[in-house]
Amino acid sequence: MLNASEKLRLQEIDSTFLTQYGRAAEVVLRAPGRVNLIGEHTDYNDGYVLPAAIERSMLIACSPRTDGKVQAFAVNYNYSTLFSIDGVQPTSDTRERWSNYLRAMAWVMKRENFDFAGADCVIQGDVPLGSGLSSSAAMLVASGLMFATLAGSTIDPVKLALLAQQAEREFVGVNVGIMDQYISSLGKANHALLIDTRSLTYKAVPLPETGVSMVIADTNKKRGLVDSEYNTRRSECEQAVVILKQTYPEITALRDVSVAQLAAVEEQLPAPVRQRARHVVTENQRTLDMADALEAGDLARCGELMNQSHESLARDYAVSCRELDELVGAARSIPGVYGARMTGAGFGGCTISLVADTALEEFSQRVPALYNDATGLEAVLTVTRAAQGAERVR
Ligand code: GLA
Repeated sequence: MLNASEKLRLQEIDSTFLTQYGRAAEVVLRAPGRVNLIGEHTDYNDGYVLPAAIERSMLIACSPRTDGKVQAFAVNYNYSTLFSIDGVQPTSDTRERWSNYLRAMAWVMKRENFDFAGADCVIQGDVPLGSGLSSSAAMLVASGLMFATLAGSTIDPVKLALLAQQAEREFVGVNVGIMDQYISSLGKANHALLIDTRSLTYKAVPLPETGVSMVIADTNKKRGLVDSEYNTRRSECEQAVVILKQTYPEITALRDVSVAQLAAVEEQLPAPVRQRARHVVTENQRTLDMADALEAGDLARCGELMNQSHESLARDYAVSCRELDELVGAARSIPGVYGARMTGAGFGGCTISLVADTALEEFSQRVPALYNDATGLEAVLTVTRAAQGAERVR
């Protein structure tokens, strides 16, 4: 189901479709961005994450073609692209990097034998780009759903997430975990999902309906370094597993190590591998604890765990930055804020705060002002409820 703002966006998309292609769009798909409440940098360690889909999404309207080509018009860029499904190549044209996601997904879906013969489409999104809210996962998941639909097939939502992850890894070139694609595909309205990234199963955890809000604050610091640092963290975690296996031969990932087990042998790990392992192992536990605290309605405990997560990411995992720290600090200075942390891969992007509804007004006035005093940057706030995952809406 579309929310009110998606309905308005679809009107614009429908009229753009008519202008571009001289016919109406038959099929419409949506896939949301996400915010992660807790469980950061745990997904590529087979661990737990607790994200929610957000009320910001990618919408694609399309109609089939039969000539083996995909034509796509991106409303956000006022730019059109055309490519053949056979022999898909990434484009190096910087004006249309966005279309690489579409190309990647066409390529992966063909490889999986989805039988589609082409598409005309119009794409429009309101997930901020490059802000750590998974605009790319939303684009991949929406495109995958489009190609499956045009092939006349249904697709299991976990499979859709896995194929979107493959597209990002193999075609776009970042060695990401499964969290973003999974929550974009399987998100549940008004719930966060406690996802076990090893078994690829989840438990839906209800979010409070009243009294408290999730507030996303964008640092507006564009994320530099993130891809190379991300891959470095991954390999540091793998190094930790190799060393810890000497004491605990049964482990295959940091997910298998308890906080007590790590503490007992931490000294064997060299810096910074020790700090990286400490973050992942404690974060996994915090994620399980947060799911329990949410279910028990213990918001104070939730906030405490979010605060600890941020400290661990900043100090042990070294993926925060001055702007994220300032924004988290500004948020925590407002009475009625339960907790605040960076969300996503880090090095810029967004923070997430749990804010009592009675504190929302003060939050929205004072946090951007405090942040601007400290950094000279404008923080952009988004209050969101948890949204439904990807779906065909027409
Ligand atoms: C990015 C990746 C995810 C996850 C987070 C960090 O968003 O795409 O798979 O690893 O970073 O938690």
